[in-house]
Amino acid sequence: MQNHTPRRPSWSALNIWMHWLIAALIVVQILDHDAMEDAWRNALRGASEGESDALMVWLHIGVGFTIFVFALVRLADRLIRGRPPHPEDEPVWALWLAKSVHALLYLALILMPISGLVAWFGGVEGAGSAHSLIWTIMLVLIGVHILGALTQHFIFRTNVLTRMVRPDSAGSGQ
Ligand code: HEM
Ligand code: HEM
Repeated sequence: MQNHTPRRPSWSALNIWMHWLIAALIVVQILDHDAMEDAWRNALRGASEGESDALMVWLHIGVGFTIFVFALVRLADRLIRGRPPHPEDEPVWALWLAKSVHALLYLALILMPISGLVAWFGGVEGAGSAHSLIWTIMLVLIGVHILGALTQHFIFRTNVLTRMVRPDSAGSGQ
């Protein structure tokens, strides 16, 4: 089957920066999620805002929204300018696993902020539950993604990881 995805030799510096910023901001969300959960429980039982840690709540919302914007920019960049080729002699199962995990990660990066915003500003309890469920799935995806990146680097010995660190490390992935 012909592949119509545009090709480019390497990731752009902007795309690389955003990838690692998103990863760092997800760590921030891991650190501040307790405060958000508390605030959400308080909101559901109709408690006043004073009982929640407002600063941490706004941090969670601000960081979550920033992740959303960065993910959309990366996705647009990738749809318009494409991505570097996958390694040529990668096993078919590994190629499809990588493609599926990447697509699901983009979906989770978009659905997380949307469900959070709908829960918090719309007061929709189901959206809060969806937010937690997507988070659990996202953790598994991130785990598989990191294992994949390390396998590429240390076992398949390709340049997949280094080209996500340095914009000039082009090549076919070998
Ligand atoms: C990609 C961005 C985001 C990430 C990674 C994230 C992560 C998390 C995590 C880990 C939790 C705890 C869930 C659990 O352990 O069950 C949580 C809870 C929550 N977050 Fe976010 N969040 C993001 C964006 C947002 C945004 C933009 C809002 C908007 C207000 C938001 C609102 C909430 C709410 C209301 C809860 C409590 C939901 C519940 O406990 O059922 N989140 N978030
Ligand atoms: C923690 C949150 C992370 C998220 C949400 C995330 C998400 C993504 C996404 C969506 C792609 C896009 C691939 C594409 O457009 O085709 C990607 C690429 C990549 N990520 Fe991550 N990533 C994260 C963390 C990491 C970490 C910790 C590592 C390293 C251990 C890593 C290594 C890579 C590499 C090497 C690529 C390039 C893959 C390729 O060129 O085929 N990522 N990441």
